[in-house]
Amino acid sequence: EKPKLYITRKVPEKILEPFQQDFTISMWKYEEEPVPREVLLKEISDAHGVLCMLSETMDQEIFNTGSSLQVVANLAVGYDNIDLHAAREAGVVVTNTPGVLTESTADLAFSLLLSTARRIVEANQYIKEDKWKQWSPYLLAGMDVHNKTIGIVGMGRIGEAIARRAQGFGMEILYHNRSRKVESEKQIGATYVDFDTLLNKADLVVSVVPATPQTNQMFNKEAFQKMKRSSIFINISRGSVVNENALVEALEMGEISAAGLDVFAEEPIRSDHPLLDKTNVICLPHIGSASTETRSSMLQLCLENISGVIHGTGPITEVK
Ligand code: GLV
Ligand code: GLV
Repeated sequence: EKPKLYITRKVPEKILEPFQQDFTISMWKYEEEPVPREVLLKEISDAHGVLCMLSETMDQEIFNTGSSLQVVANLAVGYDNIDLHAAREAGVVVTNTPGVLTESTADLAFSLLLSTARRIVEANQYIKEDKWKQWSPYLLAGMDVHNKTIGIVGMGRIGEAIARRAQGFGMEILYHNRSRKVESEKQIGATYVDFDTLLNKADLVVSVVPATPQTNQMFNKEAFQKMKRSSIFINISRGSVVNENALVEALEMGEISAAGLDVFAEEPIRSDHPLLDKTNVICLPHIGSASTETRSSMLQLCLENISGVIHGTGPITEVK
């Protein structure tokens, strides 16, 4: 009997085709709705591999239930939805999707940065709401991005890809990271600074740090107070690195000037959340890596990881 592969969302059949002969593939039936917990538990009870998304909490109960489970492939580079300790105890390999999404995610970071600074969404709304009656010199005037100082918090692959883009905009590049990246400093002309210095000096602060106990709510009241009043805060990593009440307050008190957010403490964010009614805040529904090409590459990598573990050749991108 072929090993069972469970996929927690409907994905294109075309991508699955090469894997159909080796696996019995079972898949949740909707693309836009996550699998209910009880369905997931039932499916996992006899699955050998699971391809899951960040909408699934892969905890102790999941690993206890999946008695045949050998591998969990997360369709994301971040894996804070997975209890790695429980996976390890259960002898389950966990994989993620680094590399394939780096450039797309950096593109999104830069889109968010430019649209926040230049008030693109507001300007679009302005026309569509039929408010454009006159042209005037400071109409929807924003802040320049070129030649400004960018502060990148988290200098992994994505941070570096953002830095390369910033170079093209003639920006001064500051970064903060757990460890210094001497190679990056040379290649992209980035300067390592401590967190407070970065907050103090950057015109645009970009969060690319993974969610860990150490980064939890690192952007808190004190952090926002250290930022320039003219600064813009961008978050494309995880909502848990931000204290959202402090961010709302910083925006309302004018401690920072604007924010561009792709991620939130709770996703989907509640429709009455105070971050959603501010014209100087651009919010996106966690689409960092969402280009058609990259999503397909990520799915492909997940499937190869699962196949590698189950067929004994080993995973490609294991989370250790
Ligand atoms: C998305 O947020 C990811 O971690 O890939
Ligand atoms: C993700 O791949 C990162 O290291 O930033």
